[in-house]
Amino acid sequence: MVSRYEQGNSPSSPEKINGNFVGKDILSLDQFDMQSLVHLFEVTETMKDIAVNARPSDVLRGNIVTLLFYEPSSRTRGSFDAACKQLGGETIVVENPQQFSSVAKGESFNDTIRTFEAYSDVIVLRHPQTGSAQKAADAVQIPVINAGDGGQGEHPTQALLDLLTIKEARGSLEGMTGVIAGDLLYGRTTKSLIRGLALYPGNTLYLLSPQELKLPEKDLQDFSSRGIKLVEIDSEDAIPKDADFWYWTRVQKERFENPQDYERVKNRFIVTPDILSRFGGKNTILMHPLPRVGEITEDVDKDQRAVYLRSQIRNGMYIRMALLGLVLGRISLPPQGQSQE
Ligand code: NCD
Repeated sequence: MVSRYEQGNSPSSPEKINGNFVGKDILSLDQFDMQSLVHLFEVTETMKDIAVNARPSDVLRGNIVTLLFYEPSSRTRGSFDAACKQLGGETIVVENPQQFSSVAKGESFNDTIRTFEAYSDVIVLRHPQTGSAQKAADAVQIPVINAGDGGQGEHPTQALLDLLTIKEARGSLEGMTGVIAGDLLYGRTTKSLIRGLALYPGNTLYLLSPQELKLPEKDLQDFSSRGIKLVEIDSEDAIPKDADFWYWTRVQKERFENPQDYERVKNRFIVTPDILSRFGGKNTILMHPLPRVGEITEDVDKDQRAVYLRSQIRNGMYIRMALLGLVLGRISLPPQGQSQE
């Protein structure tokens, strides 16, 4: 959606949700406040009921959602597709447009985006360039949902499902102690998740990464200034035993220019049953946005604390159902003051 801040070529910033999702782009966790998250999670509960009980739904009947993915994706694309279909809507799926669409003939990004604006009601975009989701949002009138933009951008829908997963498992999003591990330099799920957790009081995050993949200093400063406590660590020994969650991530191979640099840092921190039993608590949940490429061994999967292939993956579809229905104005929020914290 063309942001109301947009003036000429000056950079725009996405509009705050402020309790009203209708017609809004979903580009960054910076758009959210606690109350908007409460609303979103309430609606998500209803969506879960539709999906789990296979209730026929007309919520998105007549709507078309374009899934425009310039980078590979299984879960994000698949769950948006499923979310739309669960609610009776249709999708146009465009994968790898660099190769298989008019982009290959030299079409500009803006023209591609505006073309799909003509065919659909929402555009879900994944793109290798940071800032491309905002650029798309500035080019069209319909909502744009950021499904991951560049190595320094965000992945807000992933973070929303991650927040829900933590809230369900640990009962709160306040006063949490978490570990975020892996590629904090290029990770966009982690940059969105930290923004989300910074909305709540009393959270402490231990950031475990190879030296080369630390959270950029500007983000460390920015997030810390919001009141969240961020502690950089370089070994599992420094993980507090009673952490509420661990959030492991893969090293984002595709962001490295030199393959040897990737080889040097990949899988520096691997979760095995032994690591989980030595450094994890009885109730520590283990999360991962997936795909994993060796940083959690498969024998960890049977541990009930490993939620990545359980609640976390399922919550992705429920959250995306809620978001699509809300931005399209096909789901109304409960009247103000009636929602539960
Ligand atoms: C992505 C990945 O690692 O490929 N995973 C995901 O969306 N669940 C995260 C990303 O692309 O940033």
